[in-house]
Amino acid sequence: MNEPKRVFIKTYGCQMNVYDSGRIVDALGVAGYEEVLSAETADLIILNTCHIREKAAEKVYSEIGRLRRFKTPETGRPVTIGIAGCVAQAEGKEILRRAPEVDFVVGPQNYHRLPALVHDAGNGRKIVDTDFPAEEKFDHLPKTTAARIKLRGVTAFLTVQEGCDKFCSFCVVPYTRGAEFSRPVAAILAEARDLVAAGVREITLLGQNVNAYHGADADGSDCNLGALLYQLAEIDGLARLRYMTSHPRDMDDRLIAAHRDLDIVMPYLHLPVQSGSDHILEKMNRRHGRTAYFELVDKIREARPGLALSSDFIVGFPGETDADFEDTMDLIEKVGFAQAYSFKYSPRPGTPAADIDEQVPEPVKAERLLRLQSVLGEQTRRFNESFRGQSMQVLLEKPGRMPGQLVGRSPWLQAVQVDAPESLLGTLADVVIEDVGGYSLFARLATPGQTSLAWDGERGLRSEVPA
Ligand code: SAH
Ligand code: SF4
Ligand code: F3S
Repeated sequence: MNEPKRVFIKTYGCQMNVYDSGRIVDALGVAGYEEVLSAETADLIILNTCHIREKAAEKVYSEIGRLRRFKTPETGRPVTIGIAGCVAQAEGKEILRRAPEVDFVVGPQNYHRLPALVHDAGNGRKIVDTDFPAEEKFDHLPKTTAARIKLRGVTAFLTVQEGCDKFCSFCVVPYTRGAEFSRPVAAILAEARDLVAAGVREITLLGQNVNAYHGADADGSDCNLGALLYQLAEIDGLARLRYMTSHPRDMDDRLIAAHRDLDIVMPYLHLPVQSGSDHILEKMNRRHGRTAYFELVDKIREARPGLALSSDFIVGFPGETDADFEDTMDLIEKVGFAQAYSFKYSPRPGTPAADIDEQVPEPVKAERLLRLQSVLGEQTRRFNESFRGQSMQVLLEKPGRMPGQLVGRSPWLQAVQVDAPESLLGTLADVVIEDVGGYSLFARLATPGQTSLAWDGERGLRSEVPA
């Protein structure tokens, strides 16, 4: 029997890329490859890249530079280097020009063609495959084996929707991932059942615009994300559902009702607003204003008391004045976020915002980012602090920081280090939070009869609810 060939994948960017890297391993498995966790021993090295900000894209070229040495491995084996993901899609053959050590470039919609691509690249051909193919990759990608699911642990990502039709003026995603596409309900249910059968307890549904999901149901009717959640909630053995990333415009009533009705849907929602200024939101082409966001947040919190929110923010979007920025600070103050990601605006070639004249100077962006992050950091700290002494359920995912500890996630996505025996790995445990650190909560296993408290969504305050 042939010795298996080895593939090493390094993943950048969003959760969708993490999911895709798994599917790349699945696709290459059919071609006799097994995944290794270091580039040193690999026959094939793939960088699964991100193009969202300039820094992210430039990182790829410095990493390719570092990989150069593997082209003449001591083992004498030829090493193939491939670039996948959003830089591959955006830059295509420019990558081969800038980095001659790269053998192939493959866009996110073409991963089902990888076995053929890798074979041809191994024969010395340089290949760029970034067309949006007529056939649907999900119909051609092999299923993930139970053994691989088990290796990946008790939480899993599941892509239900890909691409984006929103065209926010700063964003490359509509160009790198193409038009919106929703997978059919049956394919999603089948994949979810396979995950659960192999031990997965928590599934995060993924999409660049996940709540724009509208897949075909078994009877041919249209199914939206809310309706999909109700169907997934029926799967025996599945304990938790999450989804990301949502656009405020697509939070419809059915989806909000799912938060009200389904305990399996975790009380945590990533709902990026980007800015608190009506003027900037309009220039960003977000197609909603600040008032609409406030109203939406109220509606969601009313449907699911205790739900916590997170968001993304961009500071220094072209034309952002001090007053616009203060509007963002005011929105943050009024909404109260459990967690947030924030970025300096980065002009991306080919996007409309990159051509706006009023670019904000770098030092102004830096100063605004610092102020914004300090307020958001304080909100996160207060949110975490509000759990001290409280009970919650944690899905124990892997060995923790210290011997005798396991680490897992709270319903609100906080990392929780729990003093617990290894036999509880993969289970949902009732714990009591004893300490709150910068990056994690620290807990012990609860004793029965403890009351449970929930965050009431009002700036980190908490109210008692029945256990
Ligand atoms: N689909 C998601 C966002 C995906 S990109 C949504 O609609 O919210 C992830 C985050 O990167 C965005 O929310 C935004 O905050 C940030 N981002 C995207 N393009 C950017 C750019 N050109 N400069 C700075 N940040 C950017
Ligand atoms: Fe980008 Fe906007 Fe689409 Fe999100 S909704 S992926 S920010 S274009
Ligand atoms: Fe980056 Fe592409 Fe995701 S640009 S954020 S990897 S969709």
